[in-house]
Amino acid sequence: MTRTLKIPVGITAVGQAYPERLVTNAELSTMVDTTDEWIRTRTGITERRWVEKGQGASDLGAPALRMALERRGIRAEDLDVIIVATTTPDTIFPATACRIQQKVGATKAWGFDLGAACSGFLFALSAGAGLIASGAATRVAVVGTDIMSSIIDMDDRATCVLFGDGAGAVILEQVEEGFGILDFEHHVDGTGVDFLHMPGGGSRLPATHETVDNKDHVIHQSGQDVFKAAVREMADSSRLMLDRNGFTPADLKLFVPHQANLRIMDAALRRLEIPPERMAVNIDRFANTTAATIPTALFQSLEAGKVAKGDLVVLAAFGAGFTWGAMLIRWNF
Ligand SMILES: CC(C)(COP(=O)(O)OP(=O)(O)OC[C@H]1O[C@@H](n2cnc3c(N)ncnc32)[C@H](O)[C@@H]1OP(=O)(O)O)[C@@H](O)C(=O)NCCC(=O)NCCS
Repeated sequence: MTRTLKIPVGITAVGQAYPERLVTNAELSTMVDTTDEWIRTRTGITERRWVEKGQGASDLGAPALRMALERRGIRAEDLDVIIVATTTPDTIFPATACRIQQKVGATKAWGFDLGAACSGFLFALSAGAGLIASGAATRVAVVGTDIMSSIIDMDDRATCVLFGDGAGAVILEQVEEGFGILDFEHHVDGTGVDFLHMPGGGSRLPATHETVDNKDHVIHQSGQDVFKAAVREMADSSRLMLDRNGFTPADLKLFVPHQANLRIMDAALRRLEIPPERMAVNIDRFANTTAATIPTALFQSLEAGKVAKGDLVVLAAFGAGFTWGAMLIRWNF
């Protein structure tokens, strides 16, 4: 079944923001038992950006959204809704959407946070597009922002090297017939919760001295299980969605996968038989920024002139939960 929106909705502008602090593999190898060579060959990452202490997800999400608003030539007051995909909100409550709303001055908008880990941005796009297609909103901002440096365990060399901080934002609006979001395919499977998670800090295991001592407030993951599932699900959900719309991977101008590990992305690309030059890559410079990988990779592809009006684009994500999916877009500007 295709998820065809009743009104054509598309992305009409994109923005991004990263912190200034650059952390190279060489610098990381002074902090943990690793090497530039291991990180580059096993993950494709050469450097990442980390915030200074005290900065939260809204401090990157707000400038990314401001940039998207400027590029679209609209004011923050023109927004109806702000949806913020994040796994590292400024605080458990209030929602980071409230802080971003206040920072950009979106005085007429309501909003909320959406938690789907690395698939969060994709799911938030579908939620935002649904609000427009139902007539409930005209302009929706979708922000993906994560401060992964706040939840990494510097004693776990297999995970701390993988993540970076960043934010991307898009504006969603009604677009011309035949353009914008053509279809999407989303899934969750809770049997995957223990493979990639942060055990503490929520209602099940609130923060105590013991949870801090047990390292319950950092990322725990089973890297190889996540690796295999990510390749399979990103590729297969993309393929299923293309098939049912009468397209093949050869029709794609740009494939924008979640940037978790270059080897995961390359394997998904091979499974789909898409030529490597059609894949958006920014993991080398920014690592895995969770909800921010897809909008920032999209931003950078647009800047590089890799996508134009009429091109077919597929976004694909996989993350904790497990959560995963894909979205097919006929680019509209
Ligand atoms: C985490 C990941 C990079 C590990 O790569 P891998 O090839 O599976 O490596 P392994 O875990 O098998 O470890 C291989 C060896 O490298 C070592 N190693 C792990 N991290 C290292 C590091 N940063 N530097 C040097 N050596 C490291 C391990 O200790 C192990 O050594 P051993 O063989 O002596 O025990 C990989 O599994 C991965 O990317 N998984 C997906 C993670 C992910 O994307 N999560 C987010 C999804 S949204």
